[in-house]
Amino acid sequence: MKKLLTLFLCAGLVSSIYAQNQEKYRLPGPDSGYVPSVSNLQAREKFQDMKFGIFVHWGLYSIMGQGEWVLHNRNINAQEYALLANCFNPIHFDAEEWVDIFKSSGARYMTVTTRHHDSFSLFDSKVTEYDVMEATPFKRDVMKELSEACAKKDFKLHFYYSHLDWTREDYPIGWTGRGTGRDGSKADWDSYYQFMNDQLTELLTNYGPVGSIWFDGYWDHADKPDFDWHLEEQYALVHRLQPACLIGNNHHVKPYAGEDFQMFERDLPGQNEAGLSANSVVSQLPLESCITLSVGSWGYNMTNAFHDRDYVIGQLVGAAGRNANLLLNVGPRADGSIPAEVVKVLGEVGRWLEIYGDSIFGTRGGFVAPHSWGVTTQKDHRLFVHLLKQEDDCLYLPVGDRKVKSVKVMADDAHVHFTKVGGGILIQVPEHEKTVDYILEVTFR
Ligand code: GLC
Repeated sequence: MKKLLTLFLCAGLVSSIYAQNQEKYRLPGPDSGYVPSVSNLQAREKFQDMKFGIFVHWGLYSIMGQGEWVLHNRNINAQEYALLANCFNPIHFDAEEWVDIFKSSGARYMTVTTRHHDSFSLFDSKVTEYDVMEATPFKRDVMKELSEACAKKDFKLHFYYSHLDWTREDYPIGWTGRGTGRDGSKADWDSYYQFMNDQLTELLTNYGPVGSIWFDGYWDHADKPDFDWHLEEQYALVHRLQPACLIGNNHHVKPYAGEDFQMFERDLPGQNEAGLSANSVVSQLPLESCITLSVGSWGYNMTNAFHDRDYVIGQLVGAAGRNANLLLNVGPRADGSIPAEVVKVLGEVGRWLEIYGDSIFGTRGGFVAPHSWGVTTQKDHRLFVHLLKQEDDCLYLPVGDRKVKSVKVMADDAHVHFTKVGGGILIQVPEHEKTVDYILEVTFR
């Protein structure tokens, strides 16, 4: 009887959390028919708790060392480009070593390109010969090895999947990849759509739990308002195969029904510095911003410089303060090695997170909105004040009715003096050396 009662209470609790979350994540507009599963809603919370992921762009383009858009940028004939597959033999690829390097940054998940715009698949796909197993001398299923390494090392695996294709002739040509020698008259949407769905089925069947599918390329037909990607059916397929798998789409517009998180490319939510977020609104969905460590490209680029530790920390904190995850991109070389500079920066970020991770992981954007001085994050009874630009020795925080128990410097637990003023507190910011993020921890009763 007691057991039955507990079960009943638990079921009640779960359904009420479910109802609350459903309300929270409901998308506006007439197209809001999608009802996420309980496991999906739970996955959204866990996703937000992770806060930091590593993005990996790797493929045939890595051989040319000019970024992942080289096929388009240089108008290479796609058949000629495909010969690169004969040279794809990454003798230094070691999935476990990659995961160790990524984990050294403090990140909790990785999102890896399974197939980018060039059409080459880095996994064992039965529906194309243009994959790592059949077209290359390497003949090892990269996604299999990564999925095993991730499972072993408790690191979550997410998949990037390109909607657009610069090689296949059944793909209806969009505004990119027009110089790759395809015969546009052979476009066959049904065939292409079937191909994508078959591949997604493979990805969601053969590699264990997949944290998210990260779609990209929708904008290739942005100039045709009537172009129909048939997203709803495809999203339903993904959720049928793995209900907890989150769907995100880098379409740069407001989320569609069926999506579980919203992403921003090279911008933090609410910003539009990269010029890609003009038509985007910040939704109630979990958020993720992606940036790249190599200045200017996602795939390996031989001539690019790298951003440094402070840049990454600034972006990570800026994202967390805007309630978003940061997805930091790394472009391994074609031989499977990761540039030493990348390894160095990741390690440095990881060491910073070992000390200050409590103010990032498991937090949500703080109730004090981003200011010119920085951002806030919050967790249980604590508000972390991240002073990214130390402008003044006094800081006013509008905490409302909340009763402040203490304010401390996160680095050394030193108590900080504050006084109640109107609807908030005035904090005397202690003198300190210049640092990328000076963090104060405000605890409420
Ligand atoms: C863009 C690019 C693509 C990259 C992606 C990452 O959509 O087309 O190369 O994969 O951004 O955000």
